Formats: sequence, structure tokens, C-alpha cells
Amino acid sequence: MKDIDNGLSKDMDKELSRGTDSRLSKSIDNRLSAEDISSALSGAGITDCTIQVYDTVGSTQDIGKEFARSQWSDPEGTSPLALITADSQTKGRGRYGKHFYSPSDTGIYMSLVIKVGKPVENFLSITTATAVAVCHVIERHSHMKPEIKWVNDVWFGGRKACGILTEAVTDPKSGILGSVIIGIGMNLTTESFPDELRDIAFSIDDMDIGRSRLIAEIASEIFKASEDPDSDELFEEYKSRSLILGKEVWWMERDQRRTGLAVDINRAGNLIVKTEAGLVTLNSGDVSIRPV
Ligand code: BTN
Repeated sequence: MKDIDNGLSKDMDKELSRGTDSRLSKSIDNRLSAEDISSALSGAGITDCTIQVYDTVGSTQDIGKEFARSQWSDPEGTSPLALITADSQTKGRGRYGKHFYSPSDTGIYMSLVIKVGKPVENFLSITTATAVAVCHVIERHSHMKPEIKWVNDVWFGGRKACGILTEAVTDPKSGILGSVIIGIGMNLTTESFPDELRDIAFSIDDMDIGRSRLIAEIASEIFKASEDPDSDELFEEYKSRSLILGKEVWWMERDQRRTGLAVDINRAGNLIVKTEAGLVTLNSGDVSIRPV
């Protein structure tokens, strides 16, 4: 494990600019390097972030949670931001405790820890702001046109390439939201998926930058977005990128299949669906688009 406080990095990098290497180029350096991540973050003006890079872990989210707890028990000894990434995960997890497939070399698995210390409303905005930030980076470095599937999966042409999981640690003294841990898993060059994912998973295999720079760029966008997660602009962009709004959807409710038209997402992150019985507000859950 390499643990770097990138405020101490001497190897200041250029700004996080778009790479010019040819797409699908085998010459792209895909290694995970704490030095490269640190250097790229410093170039983007982020110098107060602890960086931890591992070969294999259970889940970067768990390491992120531990870090978040230490931010509150040891405020002087920890930085307000942390980035934990691993080449592979043995217990990568998604929402509802689902397994997140995390093979080595072919994807990115990262958790960002942000000390927030504000009322809980910010939590949902950070989640939606993260999805938008991830789309920005993908569009800058690939030909793909990502869409956001409520709540915050990133899809391409009906298949999922990136999942986002946001968790929180509360400040034990005040009970308010202390730190958020934002986990991002992205398939890059994974060619073979387990049977259950084969038809629904997608790999973004035309990135023009390597994993370390990609991780730094995603982190930098999210750290910056987290400074004003309630921005109306970000939220409108989140909705405009929605794969689901304006579509007929179905979901299961107490073993009953329900259907309706997805008409809006409110600031609390709820999906508003117009059904024959009136408007329904969905808090979370798996919603599928009805085939036309
Ligand atoms: C989802 O698909 O529901 C969210 C998936 C989130 C996966 C990432 S990979 C890095 C971090 N560590 C985890 O165990 N999960 C997140």
C-alpha cells in the first residue's frame, strides 16, 4: 500500500488536460500509481488529499469509512479529503448490498472521502453531482455518450458501465453528516463478465488516458462539485442526462408489477412517476424502462 499526502508531492504535474494519445492505444500507461495520481491532483490545485493505492482489497468503501471515522476522532491528524483506490476488490459492493464485479487491471475502483459537516440535505446533492462529474470526465476522454440511470448508474446504449455508491459517516458528537464516502466503479477494458452481467454490463474501452490520470480527474471533478453540490445548474444537468425521464418505466412493489411514465426527479432525488392512479414518488429502487 502506498499512502501519500499529495500536499507533500514535489512532482507537480501539468494541468489535467485532455490526452492526445490515440484511442485504444496500448501505449497508454494503465498502472495505478499514487505518485501519478498525486501529481495530477496537484496540477488541478488539490493539495490536501490523502491518497492510498492498493493491489487488492475487500472494498475501498470500507477503507474509506475507516478513514472518515478517523477524520472525526483525529481532526488534526487527517486531511479533509481522501482517495482510496485498488487494482481489484474481492468484496466490491453496490447499492442494496449487491456484489460489484472488480477484476484486476481492467477497471477503476475508487472511494473518495469528503469531510462535509453540514446538514444531511447535502448528501443527495453530492450523489447526483457525482454522476454528472463522472459523465464530464468520460466525455472528455472517450467517444461515448453517457446517460444517467436513476439514481446514479452511468449507462451506454442500455448497458451499465459505471456504478456509484454514496455512504455517510456521522459526526458522533453532533449527529450531523460528518463525511461522505463516494465509491465509483467503472469497467474499462473488461472483456469477460460473469454470466449474470454479460448482457447488461459495458466497458468504456476507448479512454485516451490511463487509469491513474482518470482516477485523479474524476476525483478532482467530484471534489470541486462537492463545494457547491446544491448548484441548480448541476441538478438541471443531472436531469437532462437522465436515461429514464420521459420514458415508460416499470418496477415491483410488494410483488406487484407497476408501470407509469417517469416525469421528474425532485431535489430529494425521488423519481416522480405518472401512473393511472396519479403521481407516485419513488425513493429508491430498481426501475426498468419498458421496451417499446
Ligand atoms: C452500484 O452499482 O450500485 C454501485 C457500485 C459501486 C462500486 C464501487 S467500486 C469502488 C467502491 N468500493 C466498493 O465496494 N463499491 C464502490
